[in-house]
Parts: sequence; structure tokens; C-alpha cells
Amino acid sequence: MVNIFAILKPVVWLLMKFYGLSPQIVETEPGTKIKIWVPSKTKSANKPNVVFLHGFAGDGIFSWMSQVMAISSTHAVYVPDLLFFGGSYTDKPGRSTAFQAEVMAAALRKVGVKKCTVVGLSYGACVGFKMAKLDPELVEFIVASDTIIELNESFVRVVLDHYGFDNFVEFLMPKTADGLIRFLTICNHGPVNLPQFAAKDFLREFYNNRKEKAELAEAWVIPDNEVKPISLSQKVHLVWGDDDKIFNSNVAERTKMQLGGHTTLHYIEDGGHAVQMEKPDLYNAELKKVLSSRIINSRED
Ligand SMILES: *[C@@H]1O[C@H](CO)[C@@H](O)[C@H](O)[C@H]1NC(C)=O
Repeated sequence: MVNIFAILKPVVWLLMKFYGLSPQIVETEPGTKIKIWVPSKTKSANKPNVVFLHGFAGDGIFSWMSQVMAISSTHAVYVPDLLFFGGSYTDKPGRSTAFQAEVMAAALRKVGVKKCTVVGLSYGACVGFKMAKLDPELVEFIVASDTIIELNESFVRVVLDHYGFDNFVEFLMPKTADGLIRFLTICNHGPVNLPQFAAKDFLREFYNNRKEKAELAEAWVIPDNEVKPISLSQKVHLVWGDDDKIFNSNVAERTKMQLGGHTTLHYIEDGGHAVQMEKPDLYNAELKKVLSSRIINSRED
């Protein structure tokens, strides 16, 4: 049986090539390899850099394809796979979001990015916040969606109890086609129309490195008594599905409050957790608007 997601790979490759992007493998240190889609030199010249960080499913380019098409004429777009997703891997023991952030920052510097806006979803936005803290020179601005600053134990327990799961790894990493469809239904506002065979192919294509991904999931959750307040020097714009069934609007408002005064929040109507995939037109319009307002503001600075 041929995997449909494997068949799609060359199609994605050609499509992204049309938008000026091609994949590179960057070694940040021996044993750590990051797959990152980078813009061609002619495409990226004199354009502001935007880096997309995906959530805890799929890979970079699969998650952000529509956004690449929407903004690559005005921005130099970089789309890495986070460690243990897609084509990125390390033999180092680090599994925390801070470790992901450190490695992503190193990979971006290797491909010549000195300053950028980070656009992140869910787990990827958590990595983005850590990157902003770790490397304020590199990260100028953050657009974060459907995320949380620190994922604490008691919050995870509430989500797991609500959906009837024993542990977080089981919730995030379905093993069967039905399990995946159920997970995607939780991530969507609307119904999920994925046939069984496609769900099986998706599991085979995107749920590699299961052991390491389970470790990432466990490292994402912080014990309640270790949660620390965060303060970022960068401005953050939050774009949120108004029907996110994991990180709901209470979490959105709380995140806005925690990040402080200059943080802004925009809801996408009828958007679920995977908002950039479910509502690409609304999401992209908002992304373009906020990115272009940044250019105007930085000219005024
Ligand atoms: C855990 O996170 C939730 C959602 O952001 C929040 O309401 C709650 O106060 C947090 N608990 C602790 C102990 O930090």
C-alpha cells in the first residue's frame, strides 16, 4: 500500500519551490539535525524574516503550507521541523521546550537569520516564547495561537478528565485511525472528514519517533509548584480559535494578562485549536494585517 502523504511529498516540494522555498538539513552540533524550509536568496532579499513553529502534530511544512503561500511574496519565510518531528532529530537527552528553543535558534542562525518574527501554534508557540526569552536579539515579535505559557499539571488533568484519557501522551499521540479522528475532532471546530485509510496513512507518516515524542510531551508539562511567571521584552499578538476545545478563551484571556499590557488578542470565528489549518483565510488575513502593521511601526521607531 502506498501512503497518500508520501505521494503528496513531491507535490508539496514542487508547490513550495514555486513559492521560493526548499528544504535544507542543518547540523547545529554533531548529532543534532534540523530540517528547515528556507527561501531562495533572490526571494528573501530585503524582506523581513518570519519563522513558523508547528504544534504537536504533523510537521512544519504540512502545518503551515497555506501561510507560506499567503506571505512569501512579502516575507522571507522559514519553516523548521521541531526536534523529533518530520526530518529533525537529536541524539542529545534534552526534551524541554527550552531545549527545542535553543536548537531552533541555533538552526536559524546557521541559515543566516539574525532577526525574525516567530509565528507559533500551541506547542510551537511555547517553544517560541522560550526562544524569545533565550534570544531577544533574534526574536523581535511573536504571533502565538492557541497556546499556554506554562502547561501546568492540574490544567492537563482537567483536560484529560474531560475527554476521558489516563495520561497526556495517550491524548496527544493516538495509535489507531479512530483515535486520530477523535483527536482531530477535538482540535477542530467543525466535523473532521478524514477517511479511515487516510487516518492510517497520517499515523504512519507523522507519528515517527514515538518514544522521543512521548518524552517531549512529558517534558512539556510543568509541576504546579514549579510554574514561574514569565516576562518578555517582545510584543506578542495572540490569534485564537474562538472554539478551541483544549486552550479555551479563559486560557486566551489569562495568557494575554500574563504577558502584560502591550499584548493584543484576536479571535478567529468558528476556529478550533488547529486554527491556521481550519480557517486559513481568516487566519492569513489577520497574520498579514499584523505583519504589515509591524513594518509601519518599525519604520516609525
Ligand atoms: C494552571 O493553568 C491554568 C490555565 O492557564 C490556570 O488557570 C491555573 O491557575 C494554573 N495553575 C497553576 C497552579 O499554575
